[in-house]
Amino acid sequence: MKYINKKLTVEKTNFQKIANKYGTPLYCYSYTKLKENIINFKKNFNSFSPLICFAIKSNTNLNLLKEIKKFGLGADVVSAGELIMALKAGINPNKIVFSGVGKTSEEINFAIKKKILLINAESFSEIKEINKIAKSKRQKVNIGIRLNPNTDAKTLNQISTGKKENKFGVNKNTFYKIINFCKNSNHIDLKCLSVHIGSQILDYRPYEKMLRAVSIILKKVNHNFEFIDLGGGMGISYSNKDKKLNYKKYNIAILKFLKSHNTKIIFEPGRSIVGNAGTLIAKVIYIKDSERKKFIILDAAMNDLMRPALYGAIHKTLPVIKSNKISKKTYEFVGPICESTDRFLTLNKFQELKEKDLIAICDVGAYGMSLSSNYNLRLKPAEILIKGSKVKVIKKRQKHSDLI
Ligand code: LLP
Repeated sequence: MKYINKKLTVEKTNFQKIANKYGTPLYCYSYTKLKENIINFKKNFNSFSPLICFAIKSNTNLNLLKEIKKFGLGADVVSAGELIMALKAGINPNKIVFSGVGKTSEEINFAIKKKILLINAESFSEIKEINKIAKSKRQKVNIGIRLNPNTDAKTLNQISTGKKENKFGVNKNTFYKIINFCKNSNHIDLKCLSVHIGSQILDYRPYEKMLRAVSIILKKVNHNFEFIDLGGGMGISYSNKDKKLNYKKYNIAILKFLKSHNTKIIFEPGRSIVGNAGTLIAKVIYIKDSERKKFIILDAAMNDLMRPALYGAIHKTLPVIKSNKISKKTYEFVGPICESTDRFLTLNKFQELKEKDLIAICDVGAYGMSLSSNYNLRLKPAEILIKGSKVKVIKKRQKHSDLI
């Protein structure tokens, strides 16, 4: 994104023009950025050609998934809904892994029927349920076990998943017991060990630690895992203060791991593929003066982008048309929802805004639209894909009739 003649422009399209045409709030994705992210991700790990399963929870837009599929990516799904969406996008079932702590019997049945690559189980009870269902179908099912490596990902507490106090995966003792159970089962083929220690990880060292923990456990068990699924979690730079994840060091740690373990690596990235490819355009409805600050009341709210309210996440915000006038007062960007946490961010210095101006909330491609809701019975925004000067609506704005 850059300013051309003071207009914030992505690829060859300026946001003012598309906002006028498609309305606001509007999710805009850059095809070029998406492509660049996928190519870079592959390049970072090209020495061992991993299977890359896009974490659909980060962005569930069907048309976007179809584009992602064209680059040969598979999918990591966590519900029957996501599995249906992945299949609808044309993703080969043989490239789909199913994660999640609470898969229902119906979901397990459905996943078996669709012959997906792996069901990554997260408890002994789930393994027994898969075994029971597979037995009743007289089938053998490929599964993975998600290990909780008790590794601190050094990320936000709310998105940390690999510590022993987190609900995810099984501890090493249960892991050993499950291996024995699987060995004695005719209906389970234990093919994978999976881990996922958290999200928005910017330091490679937790990954190193996780690989060491996995390696120690693998050496203790007499079992050949065809796959090791390392999950996702690779962070992006939401602000200039965020350091960049050192992919080189992560790659080196994996290569070292692969020297003593002959296996195929799976990744489940979400944010690193779509995060910085998405921007939310919002319009200033009103400006309300208060004693110390001005409330910039937008037509986008926490139902459209939940990350700030949910995690205190900060998204860089830019004016769509640039001017040189800086506001004397602090701006607090808020939405119209009846919650005090419906607040995007507070800035001391922003260019002076007036009602009807547009702003761009950056890096919302991951966990933006996918976490949106109809709270306050607000309509979900439209989504568009920008490719050069071409603009395609990839999801229509909801209508009130959709809500009834
Ligand atoms: N695999 C599993 C099993 C996961 O639970 C997740 C994310 C991923 C892969 C993808 O992680 P990524 O590469 O996108 O970091 N809503 C939060 C993030 C929650 C992540 C949940 N799991 C946010 O907005 O930051």
